Amino acid sequence: MKSLTRRITLKILALGGACFGLPRTVRSEEQAATRDTTRLAHSPDLSTKVSWSKTHDRVWLDPRIWANPMEDWRVRDGAAECQTTGGNRNLHLITHQWTDPTGSADMRVSLQKIGGQQKDAGAGFRIGAKSELNEYRSNCFASGGINAGVLEGKLVLGRNAGSKSIDLADETTLRLSARGHGAQVELTLIAETPSGKKLDQLTTKVQSQAVLGNIALVNNFNAKLKKGQGGRYRFKDWTATGNAFTVDESRRFGPILWSMYSLSDSRSDEGFVLKISALTGPLGKQDNQKIELQIQVDGNWKSLGHAELDTDAWTATFRIPHWNEKVATPYRLLYAELKTDGTEEESSWSGVVKANPTGRPLRIGALTCQNHYGFPYGPVAENIVKLDPDLIYFSGDQLYESHGGYGLIREPAEPAILNYLRKYYMFGWSFREAMRDRPTICIADDHDVFQGNIWGEGGAPMDVQTGGASSNGGYREPARMVNVVHRTNTAHHPDVHDPTPVQQGISVYYGDMVYGNVGFAILGDRQFKSGPQHVDTGSGRADHVKDPSFQTSALDKPGLHLLGSRQESFLKKWGEDWRGHKMKILLSQTVFAGVATHHGKYDGYLKADLDSGGWPQTPRDRAIDILRQSKALHINGDQHLTSLSQYGVQKQRDSMWSFCTPAIAAGYPRWWRPDEVGMPHQKRPTHGLENTGEYLDGFGNMIYVYAVGNPEVGTKKNRYEKAHQKGSGFGLVTVDTEEKTYQIDCFRFMIDATDGKRENQFPGWPVTIRQQENAGDNIIG
Ligand SMILES: [Fe+2]
Repeated sequence: MKSLTRRITLKILALGGACFGLPRTVRSEEQAATRDTTRLAHSPDLSTKVSWSKTHDRVWLDPRIWANPMEDWRVRDGAAECQTTGGNRNLHLITHQWTDPTGSADMRVSLQKIGGQQKDAGAGFRIGAKSELNEYRSNCFASGGINAGVLEGKLVLGRNAGSKSIDLADETTLRLSARGHGAQVELTLIAETPSGKKLDQLTTKVQSQAVLGNIALVNNFNAKLKKGQGGRYRFKDWTATGNAFTVDESRRFGPILWSMYSLSDSRSDEGFVLKISALTGPLGKQDNQKIELQIQVDGNWKSLGHAELDTDAWTATFRIPHWNEKVATPYRLLYAELKTDGTEEESSWSGVVKANPTGRPLRIGALTCQNHYGFPYGPVAENIVKLDPDLIYFSGDQLYESHGGYGLIREPAEPAILNYLRKYYMFGWSFREAMRDRPTICIADDHDVFQGNIWGEGGAPMDVQTGGASSNGGYREPARMVNVVHRTNTAHHPDVHDPTPVQQGISVYYGDMVYGNVGFAILGDRQFKSGPQHVDTGSGRADHVKDPSFQTSALDKPGLHLLGSRQESFLKKWGEDWRGHKMKILLSQTVFAGVATHHGKYDGYLKADLDSGGWPQTPRDRAIDILRQSKALHINGDQHLTSLSQYGVQKQRDSMWSFCTPAIAAGYPRWWRPDEVGMPHQKRPTHGLENTGEYLDGFGNMIYVYAVGNPEVGTKKNRYEKAHQKGSGFGLVTVDTEEKTYQIDCFRFMIDATDGKRENQFPGWPVTIRQQENAGDNIIG
């Protein structure tokens, strides 16, 4: 049987073409669908029903649902079941927003208690769930709202409780209706048996503002309940109807959540190679586990075949050699969801593979570090889409351990992976519009593998007896989970240089890419790095040097690694290989110097941080010496403190420049305030900005700091204002391969990057450097 979704899509396509003069591309089709859906949204008889009656058992629930946390929920026997007795597990209907308090709304759900404590911890609806932004994704993580359900055996609606006993061990239907009355909304909650016999009813009035926001189902209303304290419930057939809701079907998230692709000149008989990954939510054993890739050629869709989903990472990756890089090519990824009754429901995710940029400069969006307090980072994500760069680069910390709440699962691997995936999905949810239409390079850093810092020690397991996950060498997480992190971030990258795994079978991802006449080296600059346990910082913390008089040369012990011999030999070859490109860029996690004097708190002076790429000093110098011939610009991140600097080895300014980009949303703050702590400097640039010039960093490395974006202390309540205060933003690098220049823009968080205002950028930017300056042939001063 043809799927309903497919038929509707085709119908909408026809409508779209007729109404809007579309379709131009797949995107146009989707825009048409979106517009059509929005138009239908205000039809009074539009009703949404989320039912799992034909869904196979699995973790991922539905494209219309965001589950908190994903790992605590399962589809089981035709319903959504909570797996834990902990507090405030919830499901948000992300296609719906309660936007009109004067309108009407009606919801219904069937629920039943299936386990947990005798004392009823409560389940039912929550309405009015909203963050300070009242934006649908951020609302999913907000506290507050009005509960409407059953608590301790009684009906409960806001602060009101019913008098009759209701036993949720029996399947019960909850009906919530709302009618706007001026500045108030009248809410009525009814509990009834499946056959429609009323058990109890409550009615109350609330201020109209209180109902606005997300609607959700909740398992254990009390957020303070720990695992073991509450109940477990089973929910099915959730319906939502009414003109109080704005419905936006384009907010569906899955089964294909998003995609990432790369395009690279292989300089072999394979020509340009496209690699693209589709990411789905974790599906079930009985679900279809194949994705199809189609491209549009001469106006017709052509299948390029199917790829199997990896059932740990839930990624399906296609590798397409002989790609026609000369034209922009619309693509779509298709998933046919097999239902339990044998029917199929087809859905798609689409975008455009850009043509390889030629005859004009290449523009790269450069991003790092997204702390969830700033989720979903709207101003940055929107600026990237508006600027329309040819490539985007995420240099790590796509998530932090606390992302989305509900704690961290470190082991065993299977639940740790699900715990990771939900956090990672918040990244895709924020940036999928930016990633669908342009190549993405995305490397993992420490927090992505649930560590505060990482010194990978060539894949060695961390000795957890000798230190915590932030100040110790090796990998803390099971190798299987680490490999999922690598696969979800990098499976779509051009082929790795040498795929031989490191210890524990942990995968590597270093390699190169040639795109837009520019050659890129992609490194894992912490994967082989030696850990701080090899040296003594004298501070009590293995990775921090606090004493200003400490001789950091003592930390430069023989035999320590920074990039590791495999990546060093790769870089030697890469620096000599100029086939197919004229300029080079090095992409790695962090800057090869300690460009921060204060950490954590405004007065938290730190002489040196072994997490920086300035340690160990000898392999740091060797890496820069190897790279000098490449004349590459180093683009990195990680620091939450943007800086533009130039490395020195034999003398100041004898090698490449480094652009450490601002964090998308800066968490842990750092500052570079050498003037204040009396670090000597020479040759301050002619712009005269404080804290710039030639310095020896805390390790004694030569570093010429040209510009820095020190943050304020974050005090604002609004997340975007706070992110702006804390020095968040993003970079844009424009590589002109004819002029042989790199223009480096460094944008703040809450700005419109297209309006040309000077104050959009951090002090000292934009800066244009010439290719030769990356080999110490200096012009800027
Ligand atoms: Fe970070």
